[in-house]
Amino acid sequence: MKLNLPERLMTNSPFRAFLQKNVEGPKLRSMASKKRYPVCLELGCGNGRGVRIIKGLFGAEKVTATDIDPSQLERARKRLKSYGNQVEFRLESATNLSCEQVGEYDAVFAFGVIHHTEDWRRSLREINRVLKPGGEYFFDELLKGFLQSAPVKAATRHPEGGMFTAEEFAGYLLQNGFKLAGRWQLDGIWLLGSAIKEG
Ligand SMILES: C[S@@+](CC[C@H](N)C(=O)[O-])C[C@H]1O[C@@H](n2cnc3c(N)ncnc32)[C@H](O)[C@@H]1O
Repeated sequence: MKLNLPERLMTNSPFRAFLQKNVEGPKLRSMASKKRYPVCLELGCGNGRGVRIIKGLFGAEKVTATDIDPSQLERARKRLKSYGNQVEFRLESATNLSCEQVGEYDAVFAFGVIHHTEDWRRSLREINRVLKPGGEYFFDELLKGFLQSAPVKAATRHPEGGMFTAEEFAGYLLQNGFKLAGRWQLDGIWLLGSAIKEG
């Protein structure tokens, strides 16, 4: 689901950039099992700041950056112009990924995205499908308790099908071909972690 105006302003703000660069990126890096992830996919890339983190901290050589919002993809395209063909952009949903071959990516990243999708379980199955065996999914999500709180409900829009608790999310990963490599959470609010595709 596309962002409403307040959330779009927040997402494109310097505060969001600071948090992603100084908290989320390093925390996810600390949970990574490998030194480098040459071929990566970013879901819901927004304005493109995540790609810089993926290249800078995770050693990505090639990143496919996707989003369902053409205006955010355009922002990302402009921001990442200097990377040339190291970054490919796709307008597509995390619930229905195009993928030339099954098992294409060394890592999939989603910074604050799966809770925006209409069907979070389907998104996780898609992530599993496009990862190479041994590939890693780095997640960073807001949780149901926070999304259903009165101030957040008043200011933002989130689909019911994208809401989950930390236990539901981690449990579904374990039942669907992943093992957890790292997990950090603020209870009921925020969940970050890393899951490795088995196989
Ligand atoms: C909260 S923003 C996060 C943007 C960026 N990843 C960041 O961390 O700043 C969520 C992003 O996910 C995108 N999005 C929403 N639903 C999506 C879906 N089904 N598939 C892919 N992207 C989606 C939105 O357009 C938006 O750019």
